[in-house]
Amino acid sequence: MNVAVEHAAGHVQRSAKLDRAVVLLGTGVVGGAWLRLLNTPAGSSVHLVGAANSRWQQTQPDQLADSRIRERLRTGGEARDNQALLAALDASPARVKVVVDATASETLAGTHAHWLSHGYHVVTANKSASGGNLAGWNALRAALQHSGSQYGDAATVGAGLPVLSSLRRLRAGGDELLALEGVFSGSLSWLFSEYDGRVPFSVLLCRARELGYSEPDPRDDLSGQDVARKLLILARSAGFALESGDVEVENLVPEALRSLPLEVFLERVHELDESLAARHAEALAQGGMLRYLAQLDRHGRARVGLRIVQPGHPAAPLSGTDNQFALTTSRYNVQPLVIQGPGAGAEVTAQALLGDILEIIRPLA
Ligand SMILES: NC(=O)c1ccc[n+]([C@@H]2O[C@H](COP(=O)([O-])OP(=O)(O)OC[C@H]3O[C@@H](n4cnc5c(N)ncnc54)[C@H](OP(=O)(O)O)[C@@H]3O)[C@@H](O)[C@H]2O)c1
Repeated sequence: MNVAVEHAAGHVQRSAKLDRAVVLLGTGVVGGAWLRLLNTPAGSSVHLVGAANSRWQQTQPDQLADSRIRERLRTGGEARDNQALLAALDASPARVKVVVDATASETLAGTHAHWLSHGYHVVTANKSASGGNLAGWNALRAALQHSGSQYGDAATVGAGLPVLSSLRRLRAGGDELLALEGVFSGSLSWLFSEYDGRVPFSVLLCRARELGYSEPDPRDDLSGQDVARKLLILARSAGFALESGDVEVENLVPEALRSLPLEVFLERVHELDESLAARHAEALAQGGMLRYLAQLDRHGRARVGLRIVQPGHPAAPLSGTDNQFALTTSRYNVQPLVIQGPGAGAEVTAQALLGDILEIIRPLA
């Protein structure tokens, strides 16, 4: 490439970047991995105009360009104010304006519909909006219909495995979801593929925590609520108007341990062992094994909980933190369509967020 052509190409790249303005909410594990992607060729077309954690934010270009922005926000920055962040988006001449939500905040999730109706695109790893109550889901749909904005939600299920996109493509082609089954939690997948009754369940749970597979408070995984939210998102995307309470959820945490402070729960975590050892023995006696499954049938009956599966079941050979989604549809009705792979992890989740942003800006490119 000669110097003039190279100069022109660089100019086109820079103007394209300024046409895509993004604000990032949440600079934790996922948000941090997403910020690192901005320094790769794939992320270089995204122009960051604001970033925030729960306490601080930054909208100054020189600060945002600093590769240590995440670390800096831990100790200071501008005062936290969503209006000021959106003002940074508004001030940008970009044609595409995206809010990225990499938090688990229900409050922020509650404003997704509002942002969409004001013309911002929203890309999210936060499940609380589409996996919360049905009114929230309906508000999102209404905002999408009226605004022409887009909602990138690939990271909310399977950490970006192509589950929601496949389901939507099938539906668009007239294929109907008849049943859905799978393992939707990386930590529960690991726990039950490792658990063979020899090492107490509580010891494995502590190991999962050390390895970063479980949430800091493992009850967030064991309660089944996170899996239920993912099942709701998939069921609603398939046309089932389910309310949160319509999902039957088996909570693996005994009632007495549910509202204890985390440290006290961890001291008493061995209290989980006896009942899970009994469930394991029952599975063995039936020639099967335990898996924490999410299930939806054609009548919209949804449940998540511990099941005994036989060796021939698709979830039986699962290992590591893999997730699995088996979709039986009107066309995939002899064998289900199975999507399987890493269903947790900062890198793949951040990649899913970037993928959704690139999808939104593709028409401009
Ligand atoms: N980790 C995974 O593998 C994975 C996979 C798929 C989906 N997800 C989802 O991705 C989201 C983020 O997960 P994570 O693992 O990155 O969590 P995390 O490490 O706990 O980070 C959460 C971030 O959100 C920030 N935050 C909380 N409330 C906020 C607010 N009101 N405004 C701005 N920032 C706020 C926190 O700020 P502070 O730093 O000040 O606390 C923190 O930076 C969650 O919804 C999670 O379910 C995670």
